[in-house]
Amino acid sequence: MKKSSVFSFLGIDDLSSDNIDFILKTSALFKKEFYEKGSIIHCINPEQTKGLVVQLLFAEPSTRTRASFEVACGRLGIAITSLWNLHFSSMAKGETLEDTFQCLIALRPDMIVLRCGGFKSAESFLRSSPVPVVNAGLGTMEHPTQALVDAFTIQEKRGKIEGEKVLIVGDVLHSRVANSNLKLLTRLGAKLGMCTPEALSPADKQAWKDVERFDSLETGIKWADVIMCLRVQRERHSLRNIGFSMAEYRDNYRIAQEEMDLFRKDGVLLHPGPAMRGVEISNQAVDDPRCHIITQVENGSYIRSAIVSLMLNLEIKSP
Ligand code: CP
Repeated sequence: MKKSSVFSFLGIDDLSSDNIDFILKTSALFKKEFYEKGSIIHCINPEQTKGLVVQLLFAEPSTRTRASFEVACGRLGIAITSLWNLHFSSMAKGETLEDTFQCLIALRPDMIVLRCGGFKSAESFLRSSPVPVVNAGLGTMEHPTQALVDAFTIQEKRGKIEGEKVLIVGDVLHSRVANSNLKLLTRLGAKLGMCTPEALSPADKQAWKDVERFDSLETGIKWADVIMCLRVQRERHSLRNIGFSMAEYRDNYRIAQEEMDLFRKDGVLLHPGPAMRGVEISNQAVDDPRCHIITQVENGSYIRSAIVSLMLNLEIKSP
């Protein structure tokens, strides 16, 4: 499998087509080998990962992304150090995120995986890091590793990505997942649609100009092969008045049984998580066989092992 080196991975545009191909194919290999042999360590030369250390810095809550990076590195024999309970870091004593980051750089890990709410000049600050950085969710900017999980899951469940009609539903305005999926899925040949309240529609109209807008969820669902629900990011709404209640959101944008009845029988329902049951998605929709939320979580570990392999330039052996 071809790969070319990537220094920091802050957004989808940092990846070449060969890099994307490498990540998707390596993830498929890792998943197959893990199912057959219960491990993936034989897919690499373990001498290559001996002594490597990946530092996680999570300044915003996470379950899936953090745990899957930990599993992904562990399966490759890479040590993890993790800073996430910031009440027990020196940030609780007033140190800034930027200074915290500089302290971690000074320890020279082989890579830093960062989640944070974003900050002024984040991109130029992170690009100047002498240690490679992976974006594990940065403000409302991008969440590129999640988009790779989503693309991999679509490919696995629908057999292809090219030509697939993907309907993004909900809080596009605040969604770093949506921004990365727009870039990645478009590059891979999918057609994107969106169904979103006006108040939560994308700020960057130019970037989203080719995405078909559906005013009714019903019309969008009848069009779609894949539905991607987004989390309503209430923690970011506190900064502005969005002009409607969660009850109104639920009545117009929730995927429930009625919506699943309109959806194609071989369709794929995704949600990056964490899902707010009852607001974005009903219990019945979560239990529907077309809903692959847990597969997305599972695929997160294979995708992140592949990303770590790319970033640390590991040779992959295909048994
Ligand atoms: N999808 C996602 O980023 O989930 P977590 O916040 O649990 O990591």
